[in-house]
Amino acid sequence: MTLLNVAQNVSLQPYNTLGIYATARYFALIETIEQLHALLESSEYAALPRLILGSGSNILFTHDFPGLVLRMQIQGIQKIIENSDFSVIEVNAGELWENVVEYALDQGYGGIENLTWIPGTAGAGPVQNIGAYGVELKDTLENVTVYDTNSHQERIFPKEQCCFGYRSSIFKTNPQYIILKIQLQLTKHPELQLQYASLTQAIQTTGQTPTNIREVAQLIRKIRDQRLPNPKILGNAGSFFKNPQIPLVQYQKLQAKYPKIVGYPASEDQVKIAAGWLIEQAGWKGKRIGNVGTYAHQALVMIAYPGATGQAILSFAQEIQHSVQEQFGISLEPEVLIV
Ligand code: EPU
Repeated sequence: MTLLNVAQNVSLQPYNTLGIYATARYFALIETIEQLHALLESSEYAALPRLILGSGSNILFTHDFPGLVLRMQIQGIQKIIENSDFSVIEVNAGELWENVVEYALDQGYGGIENLTWIPGTAGAGPVQNIGAYGVELKDTLENVTVYDTNSHQERIFPKEQCCFGYRSSIFKTNPQYIILKIQLQLTKHPELQLQYASLTQAIQTTGQTPTNIREVAQLIRKIRDQRLPNPKILGNAGSFFKNPQIPLVQYQKLQAKYPKIVGYPASEDQVKIAAGWLIEQAGWKGKRIGNVGTYAHQALVMIAYPGATGQAILSFAQEIQHSVQEQFGISLEPEVLIV
Protein backbone atom coordinates (compact mmCIF):
# COMPACT_ATOMS: atom_id res chain seq x y z
CA MET A 1 0.00 0.00 0.00
CA THR A 2 2.78 2.43 0.88
CA LEU A 3 4.07 2.05 -2.68
CA LEU A 4 0.94 3.84 -3.90
CA ASN A 5 1.99 7.17 -2.53
CA VAL A 6 -0.60 9.23 -4.37
CA ALA A 7 -1.64 12.77 -3.44
CA GLN A 8 -4.84 14.44 -4.60
CA ASN A 9 -5.53 17.84 -6.18
CA VAL A 10 -1.89 18.83 -6.32
CA SER A 11 -0.72 22.15 -7.80
CA LEU A 12 1.48 21.58 -10.85
CA GLN A 13 2.93 25.09 -10.68
CA PRO A 14 6.28 23.96 -9.21
CA TYR A 15 6.43 21.19 -11.82
CA ASN A 16 6.38 23.23 -15.05
CA THR A 17 8.98 25.80 -16.05
CA LEU A 18 6.35 28.17 -17.48
CA GLY A 19 5.10 28.31 -13.88
CA ILE A 20 1.46 27.88 -14.92
CA TYR A 21 -1.06 27.09 -12.23
CA ALA A 22 -3.09 23.94 -12.88
CA THR A 23 -3.86 20.98 -10.67
CA ALA A 24 -3.51 17.23 -11.01
CA ARG A 25 -6.43 15.17 -9.71
CA TYR A 26 -3.89 12.54 -8.64
CA PHE A 27 -0.14 13.00 -8.38
CA ALA A 28 2.81 10.78 -7.46
CA LEU A 29 6.56 11.24 -7.35
CA ILE A 30 8.11 8.10 -8.86
CA GLU A 31 11.34 7.19 -7.12
CA THR A 32 11.56 3.46 -7.85
CA ILE A 33 10.52 1.08 -10.62
CA GLU A 34 8.56 -0.97 -8.05
CA GLN A 35 6.46 2.09 -7.23
CA LEU A 36 5.71 2.64 -10.92
CA HIS A 37 4.69 -1.01 -11.39
CA ALA A 38 2.48 -0.91 -8.31
CA LEU A 39 0.66 2.19 -9.54
CA LEU A 40 0.18 1.08 -13.11
CA GLU A 41 -1.02 -2.35 -12.08
CA SER A 42 -3.39 -1.14 -9.35
CA SER A 43 -7.12 -1.33 -9.96
CA GLU A 44 -7.50 2.19 -8.58
CA TYR A 45 -5.11 4.07 -10.85
CA ALA A 46 -4.25 1.95 -13.90
CA ALA A 47 -7.17 3.08 -16.05
CA LEU A 48 -6.96 6.83 -15.34
CA PRO A 49 -5.78 9.29 -17.99
CA ARG A 50 -2.08 9.61 -17.39
CA LEU A 51 0.64 12.17 -17.86
CA ILE A 52 4.36 11.61 -17.32
CA LEU A 53 6.38 14.61 -16.22
CA GLY A 54 10.14 15.04 -16.15
CA SER A 55 11.17 18.60 -15.29
CA GLY A 56 8.10 20.06 -17.00
CA SER A 57 10.31 22.18 -19.25
CA ASN A 58 8.42 21.51 -22.47
CA ILE A 59 4.79 21.56 -21.41
CA LEU A 60 1.92 24.04 -21.34
CA PHE A 61 -1.02 23.36 -19.04
CA THR A 62 -4.21 24.98 -20.28
CA HIS A 63 -6.51 23.29 -17.76
CA ASP A 64 -6.45 21.05 -14.69
CA PHE A 65 -5.44 17.48 -15.39
CA PRO A 66 -8.29 15.09 -14.50
CA GLY A 67 -6.17 11.93 -14.14
CA LEU A 68 -2.85 10.73 -12.73
CA VAL A 69 0.35 12.76 -13.10
CA LEU A 70 3.58 10.85 -12.52
CA ARG A 71 6.74 12.79 -12.00
CA MET A 72 9.73 10.61 -12.83
CA GLN A 73 12.50 10.97 -10.29
CA ILE A 74 14.46 7.72 -10.67
CA GLN A 75 18.06 8.92 -10.88
CA GLY A 76 21.50 7.49 -11.52
CA ILE A 77 24.20 7.26 -14.19
CA GLN A 78 26.17 4.06 -14.65
CA LYS A 79 28.99 3.07 -16.97
CA ILE A 80 28.15 -0.32 -18.44
CA ILE A 81 30.70 -0.82 -21.25
CA GLU A 82 34.13 0.71 -21.67
CA ASN A 83 36.88 0.05 -24.17
CA SER A 84 39.66 2.15 -25.66
CA ASP A 85 37.31 3.83 -28.17
CA PHE A 86 34.03 4.43 -26.38
CA SER A 87 31.92 4.02 -23.28
CA VAL A 88 28.28 3.11 -23.01
CA ILE A 89 26.49 4.74 -20.10
CA GLU A 90 23.05 3.96 -18.78
CA VAL A 91 20.99 6.80 -17.33
CA ASN A 92 17.74 6.53 -15.40
CA ALA A 93 14.87 8.58 -16.71
CA GLY A 94 14.62 11.02 -13.82
CA GLU A 95 18.26 12.10 -13.91
CA LEU A 96 18.69 15.73 -14.94
CA TRP A 97 20.03 15.92 -18.49
CA GLU A 98 22.65 18.48 -17.51
CA ASN A 99 24.06 16.03 -14.94
CA VAL A 100 24.60 13.59 -17.82
CA VAL A 101 26.43 16.25 -19.84
CA GLU A 102 28.56 17.19 -16.84
CA TYR A 103 29.37 13.49 -16.21
CA ALA A 104 30.48 13.09 -19.84
CA LEU A 105 32.62 16.23 -19.69
CA ASP A 106 34.28 15.05 -16.47
CA GLN A 107 35.08 11.66 -17.98
CA GLY A 108 36.25 13.20 -21.26
CA TYR A 109 33.51 11.42 -23.25
CA GLY A 110 32.42 13.24 -26.40
CA GLY A 111 29.12 13.42 -28.21
CA ILE A 112 26.73 15.40 -26.01
CA GLU A 113 28.75 18.52 -25.19
CA ASN A 114 26.65 20.58 -27.67
CA LEU A 115 23.55 19.56 -25.71
CA THR A 116 24.67 21.34 -22.56
CA TRP A 117 22.15 23.41 -20.59
CA ILE A 118 19.11 21.86 -22.23
CA PRO A 119 16.65 21.83 -19.36
CA GLY A 120 14.79 18.64 -18.55
CA THR A 121 15.44 15.04 -17.63
CA ALA A 122 17.29 12.29 -19.49
CA GLY A 123 14.05 10.34 -19.90
CA ALA A 124 12.38 13.26 -21.67
CA GLY A 125 15.30 13.49 -24.11
CA PRO A 126 14.25 10.74 -26.54
CA VAL A 127 10.59 11.82 -26.56
CA GLN A 128 11.36 14.78 -28.74
CA ASN A 129 14.90 13.85 -29.70
CA ILE A 130 16.39 16.91 -28.02
CA GLY A 131 18.79 18.83 -30.18
CA ALA A 132 20.91 21.96 -30.22
CA TYR A 133 23.86 23.47 -32.07
CA GLY A 134 24.03 20.82 -34.76
CA VAL A 135 23.70 17.73 -32.53
CA GLU A 136 20.70 15.59 -31.62
CA LEU A 137 20.26 12.97 -28.93
CA LYS A 138 19.80 10.29 -31.60
CA ASP A 139 23.46 10.76 -32.61
CA THR A 140 24.68 9.06 -29.41
CA LEU A 141 21.64 7.17 -28.19
CA GLU A 142 21.91 3.37 -28.25
CA ASN A 143 18.56 2.27 -26.86
CA VAL A 144 15.64 3.17 -24.64
CA THR A 145 14.04 0.93 -22.01
CA VAL A 146 10.33 1.53 -21.48
CA TYR A 147 7.53 0.16 -19.40
CA ASP A 148 4.72 -0.73 -21.80
CA THR A 149 1.47 0.08 -20.02
CA ASN A 150 -0.49 -2.12 -22.45
CA SER A 151 1.46 -5.33 -21.90
CA HIS A 152 2.70 -4.36 -18.40
CA GLN A 153 6.17 -5.42 -19.45
CA GLU A 154 9.49 -3.75 -19.94
CA ARG A 155 10.72 -3.48 -23.48
CA ILE A 156 13.94 -2.22 -25.08
CA PHE A 157 13.79 -0.04 -28.19
CA PRO A 158 17.09 -0.07 -30.10
CA LYS A 159 17.60 3.34 -31.68
CA GLU A 160 16.58 2.09 -35.14
CA GLN A 161 13.11 1.40 -33.74
CA CYS A 162 12.69 4.80 -32.08
CA CYS A 163 11.62 6.55 -35.34
CA PHE A 164 13.68 9.62 -34.53
CA GLY A 165 13.08 12.79 -36.53
CA TYR A 166 13.38 16.51 -35.89
CA ARG A 167 11.88 16.92 -32.40
CA SER A 168 9.98 13.65 -32.80
CA SER A 169 10.07 9.94 -31.97
CA ILE A 170 7.82 6.94 -31.48
CA PHE A 171 7.50 7.95 -27.82
CA LYS A 172 5.94 11.31 -28.64
CA THR A 173 2.95 9.68 -30.30
CA ASN A 174 2.69 6.52 -28.17
CA PRO A 175 2.16 7.49 -24.54
CA GLN A 176 1.72 3.84 -23.55
CA TYR A 177 5.51 3.65 -23.38
CA ILE A 178 6.94 5.12 -20.21
CA ILE A 179 10.65 5.70 -20.52
CA LEU A 180 12.63 4.14 -17.68
CA LYS A 181 16.23 4.50 -18.82
CA ILE A 182 18.40 5.29 -21.80
CA GLN A 183 21.81 4.13 -22.98
CA LEU A 184 24.25 6.41 -24.76
CA GLN A 185 27.45 5.51 -26.55
CA LEU A 186 30.02 8.25 -26.03
CA THR A 187 33.35 8.48 -27.78
CA LYS A 188 36.79 8.73 -26.26
CA HIS A 189 38.07 10.39 -29.45
CA PRO A 190 35.69 13.35 -29.75
CA GLU A 191 35.28 15.18 -33.04
CA LEU A 192 34.11 18.68 -32.16
CA GLN A 193 30.91 19.79 -33.91
CA LEU A 194 31.38 23.49 -34.55
CA GLN A 195 29.63 24.05 -37.87
CA TYR A 196 26.29 25.39 -36.52
CA ALA A 197 25.82 29.02 -37.64
CA SER A 198 25.73 30.70 -34.23
CA LEU A 199 28.81 28.71 -33.15
CA THR A 200 30.87 29.75 -36.16
CA GLN A 201 29.73 33.34 -35.61
CA ALA A 202 30.75 33.25 -31.94
CA ILE A 203 34.12 31.75 -32.88
CA GLN A 204 34.70 34.49 -35.44
CA THR A 205 33.75 37.21 -32.98
CA THR A 206 35.94 35.95 -30.14
CA GLY A 207 38.74 34.74 -32.40
CA GLN A 208 38.98 31.62 -30.18
CA THR A 209 38.23 28.15 -31.47
CA PRO A 210 37.37 25.54 -28.80
CA THR A 211 39.91 22.73 -28.76
CA ASN A 212 38.17 20.23 -26.46
CA ILE A 213 34.67 19.21 -25.38
CA ARG A 214 34.69 21.32 -22.23
CA GLU A 215 35.56 24.43 -24.20
CA VAL A 216 32.74 23.63 -26.64
CA ALA A 217 30.31 23.33 -23.73
CA GLN A 218 31.57 26.62 -22.28
CA LEU A 219 31.05 28.42 -25.57
CA ILE A 220 27.54 27.01 -25.96
CA ARG A 221 26.64 27.98 -22.41
CA LYS A 222 27.72 31.54 -23.21
CA ILE A 223 25.53 31.61 -26.34
CA ARG A 224 22.55 30.07 -24.54
CA ASP A 225 22.97 32.57 -21.73
CA GLN A 226 22.63 35.43 -24.20
CA ARG A 227 19.74 34.00 -26.24
CA LEU A 228 17.63 31.91 -23.88
CA PRO A 229 16.00 33.10 -20.67
CA ASN A 230 16.61 31.26 -17.39
CA PRO A 231 13.26 29.68 -16.41
CA LYS A 232 14.05 30.33 -12.74
CA ILE A 233 13.88 34.04 -13.53
CA LEU A 234 11.44 34.22 -16.46
CA GLY A 235 8.89 31.43 -16.94
CA ASN A 236 9.44 29.74 -20.31
CA ALA A 237 9.60 26.39 -22.05
CA GLY A 238 12.39 27.04 -24.55
CA SER A 239 11.35 27.17 -28.20
CA PHE A 240 7.57 27.29 -28.28
CA PHE A 241 7.25 26.31 -31.95
CA LYS A 242 9.22 23.98 -34.19
CA ASN A 243 11.20 25.38 -37.08
CA PRO A 244 8.88 24.66 -40.01
CA GLN A 245 9.96 22.82 -43.13
CA ILE A 246 8.72 24.09 -46.46
CA PRO A 247 9.24 23.03 -50.09
CA LEU A 248 12.28 24.55 -51.80
CA VAL A 249 10.04 26.19 -54.42
CA GLN A 250 8.05 28.02 -51.74
CA TYR A 251 11.32 29.05 -50.06
CA GLN A 252 12.66 30.50 -53.30
CA LYS A 253 9.51 32.55 -53.79
CA LEU A 254 9.72 33.87 -50.22
CA GLN A 255 13.42 34.60 -50.69
CA ALA A 256 12.62 36.78 -53.69
CA LYS A 257 10.32 38.84 -51.51
CA TYR A 258 12.33 38.61 -48.25
CA PRO A 259 16.03 38.28 -49.17
CA LYS A 260 17.02 38.01 -45.49
CA ILE A 261 14.84 35.00 -44.71
CA VAL A 262 16.79 32.43 -42.64
CA GLY A 263 16.59 28.88 -44.00
CA TYR A 264 18.75 25.76 -43.96
CA PRO A 265 18.51 22.82 -46.39
CA ALA A 266 16.53 20.00 -44.73
CA SER A 267 16.63 17.65 -47.71
CA GLU A 268 16.99 17.94 -51.47
CA ASP A 269 13.68 19.73 -51.88
CA GLN A 270 12.84 20.94 -48.36
CA VAL A 271 14.12 23.91 -46.40
CA LYS A 272 13.95 24.40 -42.64
CA ILE A 273 13.03 27.98 -41.78
CA ALA A 274 14.03 29.75 -38.55
CA ALA A 275 10.65 30.25 -36.87
CA GLY A 276 12.25 32.93 -34.67
CA TRP A 277 12.96 34.99 -37.77
CA LEU A 278 9.38 34.64 -39.04
CA ILE A 279 7.95 35.64 -35.66
CA GLU A 280 10.32 38.59 -35.41
CA GLN A 281 9.43 39.79 -38.92
CA ALA A 282 5.75 39.49 -38.08
CA GLY A 283 6.41 42.04 -35.33
CA TRP A 284 6.18 39.82 -32.24
CA LYS A 285 9.73 39.90 -30.90
CA GLY A 286 9.80 41.21 -27.32
CA LYS A 287 6.08 42.00 -27.49
CA ARG A 288 3.99 41.61 -24.34
CA ILE A 289 0.24 41.43 -23.85
CA GLY A 290 -0.84 41.22 -20.21
CA ASN A 291 1.28 38.54 -18.57
CA VAL A 292 2.44 36.85 -21.77
CA GLY A 293 5.13 37.80 -24.24
CA THR A 294 8.02 36.67 -26.40
CA TYR A 295 11.63 36.97 -25.30
CA ALA A 296 13.41 40.14 -26.41
CA HIS A 297 16.50 38.21 -27.58
CA GLN A 298 14.78 35.19 -29.18
CA ALA A 299 11.26 35.51 -30.55
CA LEU A 300 10.72 31.74 -30.59
CA VAL A 301 10.63 31.67 -26.80
CA MET A 302 7.37 32.53 -25.09
CA ILE A 303 7.57 34.18 -21.68
CA ALA A 304 5.02 33.60 -18.92
CA TYR A 305 5.22 36.58 -16.57
CA PRO A 306 3.89 36.02 -13.03
CA GLY A 307 0.13 35.45 -13.13
CA ALA A 308 0.07 34.21 -16.73
CA THR A 309 -2.54 31.54 -17.41
CA GLY A 310 -2.17 28.62 -19.78
CA GLN A 311 -5.14 29.86 -21.77
CA ALA A 312 -3.57 33.32 -22.19
CA ILE A 313 -0.36 31.74 -23.50
CA LEU A 314 -2.33 29.58 -25.87
CA SER A 315 -4.26 32.55 -27.31
CA PHE A 316 -1.04 34.55 -27.64
CA ALA A 317 0.55 31.61 -29.49
CA GLN A 318 -2.48 31.34 -31.76
CA GLU A 319 -2.22 35.04 -32.62
CA ILE A 320 1.42 34.51 -33.59
CA GLN A 321 0.51 31.48 -35.70
CA HIS A 322 -2.19 33.53 -37.39
CA SER A 323 0.07 36.44 -38.32
CA VAL A 324 2.90 34.20 -39.56
CA GLN A 325 0.36 32.29 -41.67
CA GLU A 326 -1.03 35.56 -43.06
CA GLN A 327 2.32 37.12 -43.88
CA PHE A 328 4.33 34.11 -45.04
CA GLY A 329 1.79 31.35 -45.72
CA ILE A 330 3.66 29.13 -43.25
CA SER A 331 1.99 27.17 -40.52
CA LEU A 332 3.83 27.03 -37.18
CA GLU A 333 3.47 23.87 -35.14
CA PRO A 334 3.94 24.00 -31.35
CA GLU A 335 7.05 22.28 -30.07
CA VAL A 336 5.80 22.19 -26.49
CA LEU A 337 3.24 19.64 -25.38
CA ILE A 338 -0.09 21.39 -24.86
CA VAL A 339 -2.23 19.74 -22.18
N1 EPU B 1 16.32 34.36 -35.49
C1 EPU B 1 15.83 35.62 -35.70
N2 EPU B 1 15.10 36.19 -34.72
C2 EPU B 1 14.83 35.59 -33.54
C3 EPU B 1 15.34 34.29 -33.33
C4 EPU B 1 16.08 33.69 -34.32
O1 EPU B 1 16.03 36.22 -36.74
O2 EPU B 1 14.16 36.18 -32.69
C5 EPU B 1 17.13 33.72 -36.57
C6 EPU B 1 18.60 34.14 -36.52
O3 EPU B 1 19.05 34.28 -37.82
C7 EPU B 1 19.29 32.93 -35.93
C8 EPU B 1 18.42 31.79 -36.45
O4 EPU B 1 17.10 32.33 -36.46
O5 EPU B 1 20.59 32.83 -36.38
C9 EPU B 1 18.46 30.56 -35.59
O6 EPU B 1 18.27 30.92 -34.23
P1 EPU B 1 18.90 30.05 -33.05
O7 EPU B 1 20.29 29.65 -33.33
O8 EPU B 1 18.61 30.75 -31.76
O9 EPU B 1 18.09 28.70 -33.13
P2 EPU B 1 16.55 28.37 -33.34
O10 EPU B 1 16.40 27.73 -34.66
O11 EPU B 1 15.70 29.54 -33.03
C10 EPU B 1 16.83 25.95 -32.44
C11 EPU B 1 16.18 25.06 -31.42
C12 EPU B 1 16.65 25.41 -30.03
C13 EPU B 1 18.16 25.26 -29.97
C14 EPU B 1 18.79 26.18 -31.03
C15 EPU B 1 20.27 25.99 -31.14
C16 EPU B 1 14.03 24.46 -32.37
C17 EPU B 1 12.56 24.65 -32.32
N3 EPU B 1 14.74 25.18 -31.50
O12 EPU B 1 16.35 27.25 -32.19
O13 EPU B 1 16.08 24.48 -29.13
O14 EPU B 1 18.67 25.62 -28.70
O15 EPU B 1 18.22 25.84 -32.33
O16 EPU B 1 20.52 24.78 -31.77
O17 EPU B 1 14.51 23.66 -33.17
C18 EPU B 1 14.21 24.09 -27.72
O18 EPU B 1 13.97 23.13 -28.44
O19 EPU B 1 13.49 24.39 -26.75
C19 EPU B 1 15.36 24.92 -28.03
C20 EPU B 1 15.67 26.01 -27.33
